[in-house]
Amino acid sequence: MATALCPGSFDPVTYGHLDIIERAARHFEGVIVAVIRNPQKSQSLFSLEERQEMLREETAHLDNVSIDFFKGLLVDFARDRGASAIVKGLRAVSDFDYELQMAQMNQRLSGVDTFFLSTSPQHSFLSSSLVREVARFGGDVSSMVPKSVLARLSERFADEGGTP
Ligand code: PNS
Repeated sequence: MATALCPGSFDPVTYGHLDIIERAARHFEGVIVAVIRNPQKSQSLFSLEERQEMLREETAHLDNVSIDFFKGLLVDFARDRGASAIVKGLRAVSDFDYELQMAQMNQRLSGVDTFFLSTSPQHSFLSSSLVREVARFGGDVSSMVPKSVLARLSERFADEGGTP
Protein backbone atom coordinates (compact mmCIF):
# COMPACT_ATOMS: atom_id res chain seq x y z
CA MET A 1 0.00 0.00 0.00
CA ALA A 2 1.17 3.48 -0.90
CA THR A 3 1.89 6.67 0.94
CA ALA A 4 -0.15 9.67 -0.21
CA LEU A 5 0.28 13.40 0.18
CA CYS A 6 -2.61 15.71 1.07
CA PRO A 7 -1.13 19.09 0.09
CA GLY A 8 -2.44 22.57 0.72
CA SER A 9 -2.10 25.93 2.41
CA PHE A 10 -4.40 25.01 5.33
CA ASP A 11 -4.76 28.66 6.32
CA PRO A 12 -6.55 27.49 8.43
CA VAL A 13 -7.59 23.84 8.29
CA THR A 14 -11.37 23.42 7.89
CA TYR A 15 -13.77 20.52 8.37
CA GLY A 16 -13.62 20.14 4.58
CA HIS A 17 -9.87 19.43 4.71
CA LEU A 18 -10.27 17.09 7.68
CA ASP A 19 -12.95 15.12 5.87
CA ILE A 20 -10.56 14.54 2.93
CA ILE A 21 -7.61 13.68 5.20
CA GLU A 22 -9.66 11.17 7.23
CA ARG A 23 -11.03 9.50 4.13
CA ALA A 24 -7.58 9.36 2.48
CA ALA A 25 -6.22 7.73 5.64
CA ARG A 26 -8.68 4.85 5.15
CA HIS A 27 -7.34 4.08 1.70
CA PHE A 28 -3.59 4.62 2.01
CA GLU A 29 -1.03 3.07 4.32
CA GLY A 30 0.31 6.48 5.24
CA VAL A 31 -0.88 10.02 4.61
CA ILE A 32 1.43 13.01 4.85
CA VAL A 33 -0.38 16.31 5.12
CA ALA A 34 1.98 18.59 3.19
CA VAL A 35 1.65 22.21 4.24
CA ILE A 36 3.06 24.66 1.73
CA ARG A 37 5.53 27.02 3.34
CA ASN A 38 4.62 30.13 1.36
CA PRO A 39 1.11 30.12 -0.02
CA GLN A 40 1.34 32.08 -3.27
CA LYS A 41 -2.27 33.19 -3.29
CA SER A 42 -1.92 35.78 -0.59
CA GLN A 43 -0.17 36.66 2.59
CA SER A 44 -1.10 33.89 5.01
CA LEU A 45 -3.11 34.62 8.14
CA PHE A 46 -1.35 31.93 10.17
CA SER A 47 2.34 31.12 10.23
CA LEU A 48 3.59 27.79 8.92
CA GLU A 49 4.10 26.62 12.51
CA GLU A 50 0.55 27.59 13.52
CA ARG A 51 -0.97 25.92 10.47
CA GLN A 52 0.94 22.71 11.24
CA GLU A 53 0.06 22.84 14.93
CA MET A 54 -3.67 23.10 14.19
CA LEU A 55 -3.42 20.16 11.81
CA ARG A 56 -1.51 18.09 14.39
CA GLU A 57 -4.16 18.79 17.02
CA GLU A 58 -6.99 17.82 14.70
CA THR A 59 -5.41 14.67 13.24
CA ALA A 60 -3.87 13.30 16.45
CA HIS A 61 -6.41 10.44 16.47
CA LEU A 62 -5.26 9.19 13.06
CA ASP A 63 -2.26 6.87 13.51
CA ASN A 64 -1.19 6.80 9.86
CA VAL A 65 -1.36 10.57 9.32
CA SER A 66 1.61 12.88 9.81
CA ILE A 67 2.07 16.60 9.25
CA ASP A 68 5.00 18.03 7.35
CA PHE A 69 5.79 21.08 5.24
CA PHE A 70 7.34 21.71 1.86
CA LYS A 71 8.55 24.50 -0.35
CA GLY A 72 9.15 24.36 -4.07
CA LEU A 73 7.59 21.67 -6.21
CA LEU A 74 5.17 19.25 -4.62
CA VAL A 75 6.49 16.38 -6.74
CA ASP A 76 10.02 16.92 -5.38
CA PHE A 77 8.63 16.63 -1.87
CA ALA A 78 6.73 13.48 -2.91
CA ARG A 79 9.95 11.93 -4.18
CA ASP A 80 11.85 12.88 -1.00
CA ARG A 81 9.17 11.25 1.17
CA GLY A 82 8.60 8.20 -1.03
CA ALA A 83 4.98 9.17 -1.71
CA SER A 84 3.48 7.86 -4.95
CA ALA A 85 0.10 9.55 -4.74
CA ILE A 86 -1.48 12.94 -4.17
CA VAL A 87 -5.02 13.17 -2.79
CA LYS A 88 -7.17 16.22 -3.47
CA GLY A 89 -10.77 17.08 -2.69
CA LEU A 90 -13.04 18.32 -5.47
CA ARG A 91 -15.80 20.61 -4.23
CA ALA A 92 -17.41 21.55 -7.51
CA VAL A 93 -16.88 21.50 -11.25
CA SER A 94 -15.16 24.86 -10.88
CA ASP A 95 -12.32 23.15 -9.01
CA PHE A 96 -11.87 20.60 -11.73
CA ASP A 97 -10.16 22.55 -14.53
CA TYR A 98 -7.22 23.72 -12.46
CA GLU A 99 -6.93 20.53 -10.45
CA LEU A 100 -6.86 18.42 -13.61
CA GLN A 101 -4.16 20.65 -15.07
CA MET A 102 -2.03 20.33 -11.92
CA ALA A 103 -2.61 16.57 -11.75
CA GLN A 104 -1.49 16.14 -15.36
CA MET A 105 1.55 18.37 -14.85
CA ASN A 106 2.55 16.48 -11.70
CA GLN A 107 2.08 13.17 -13.51
CA ARG A 108 4.24 14.33 -16.42
CA LEU A 109 6.95 15.68 -14.13
CA SER A 110 7.23 12.70 -11.84
CA GLY A 111 4.81 9.86 -12.49
CA VAL A 112 3.01 10.68 -9.23
CA ASP A 113 -0.73 10.09 -9.65
CA THR A 114 -3.44 12.33 -8.21
CA PHE A 115 -6.55 10.78 -6.69
CA PHE A 116 -9.63 12.98 -6.39
CA LEU A 117 -12.16 12.55 -3.61
CA SER A 118 -15.52 14.24 -3.95
CA THR A 119 -15.97 16.63 -1.07
CA SER A 120 -18.82 15.67 1.26
CA PRO A 121 -21.83 17.79 0.25
CA GLN A 122 -22.05 19.57 3.60
CA HIS A 123 -18.56 20.99 2.95
CA SER A 124 -18.83 21.78 -0.76
CA PHE A 125 -19.02 25.57 -0.29
CA LEU A 126 -16.22 25.69 2.24
CA SER A 127 -12.82 27.28 1.69
CA SER A 128 -10.17 28.65 4.02
CA SER A 129 -10.32 32.02 2.29
CA LEU A 130 -14.07 32.40 2.91
CA VAL A 131 -13.67 31.22 6.50
CA ARG A 132 -11.00 33.88 7.03
CA GLU A 133 -13.18 36.57 5.50
CA VAL A 134 -16.32 35.66 7.45
CA ALA A 135 -14.40 35.30 10.73
CA ARG A 136 -12.59 38.59 10.15
CA PHE A 137 -15.91 40.43 10.13
CA GLY A 138 -17.32 38.56 13.11
CA GLY A 139 -19.43 35.96 11.27
CA ASP A 140 -20.13 32.56 12.80
CA VAL A 141 -17.80 29.89 11.39
CA SER A 142 -18.24 27.44 14.26
CA SER A 143 -19.76 24.77 11.99
CA MET A 144 -16.89 25.08 9.51
CA VAL A 145 -13.75 24.73 11.60
CA PRO A 146 -12.82 22.81 14.76
CA LYS A 147 -12.96 24.55 18.13
CA SER A 148 -9.20 24.99 18.39
CA VAL A 149 -9.14 26.76 15.02
CA LEU A 150 -12.12 28.88 15.99
CA ALA A 151 -10.28 30.02 19.10
CA ARG A 152 -7.22 30.98 17.08
CA LEU A 153 -9.31 32.89 14.56
CA SER A 154 -11.02 34.85 17.35
CA GLU A 155 -7.67 35.56 18.94
CA ARG A 156 -6.11 36.67 15.66
CA PHE A 157 -8.93 39.01 14.71
CA ALA A 158 -9.22 40.36 18.23
CA ASP A 159 -5.53 41.27 17.89
CA GLU A 160 -6.39 43.09 14.67
CA GLY A 161 -9.21 44.96 16.37
CA GLY A 162 -11.88 43.14 14.34
CA THR A 163 -11.19 44.90 11.03
CA PRO A 164 -8.66 44.33 8.27
O1 PNS B 1 -4.66 24.90 -0.39
P1 PNS B 1 -4.20 25.36 -1.74
O2 PNS B 1 -3.62 26.74 -1.64
O3 PNS B 1 -5.27 25.24 -2.78
O4 PNS B 1 -3.01 24.38 -2.18
C1 PNS B 1 -2.38 24.50 -3.44
C2 PNS B 1 -1.10 23.66 -3.49
C3 PNS B 1 -0.16 24.04 -2.37
C4 PNS B 1 -1.47 22.19 -3.34
C5 PNS B 1 -0.45 23.90 -4.88
O5 PNS B 1 -0.32 25.27 -5.10
C6 PNS B 1 0.92 23.26 -5.01
O6 PNS B 1 1.02 22.06 -5.16
N1 PNS B 1 1.98 24.08 -4.91
C7 PNS B 1 3.35 23.62 -4.93
C8 PNS B 1 4.12 24.13 -6.15
C9 PNS B 1 4.00 23.17 -7.30
O7 PNS B 1 4.31 22.01 -7.21
N2 PNS B 1 3.49 23.71 -8.43
C10 PNS B 1 3.24 22.95 -9.62
C11 PNS B 1 1.82 22.41 -9.60
S1 PNS B 1 1.49 21.54 -11.10
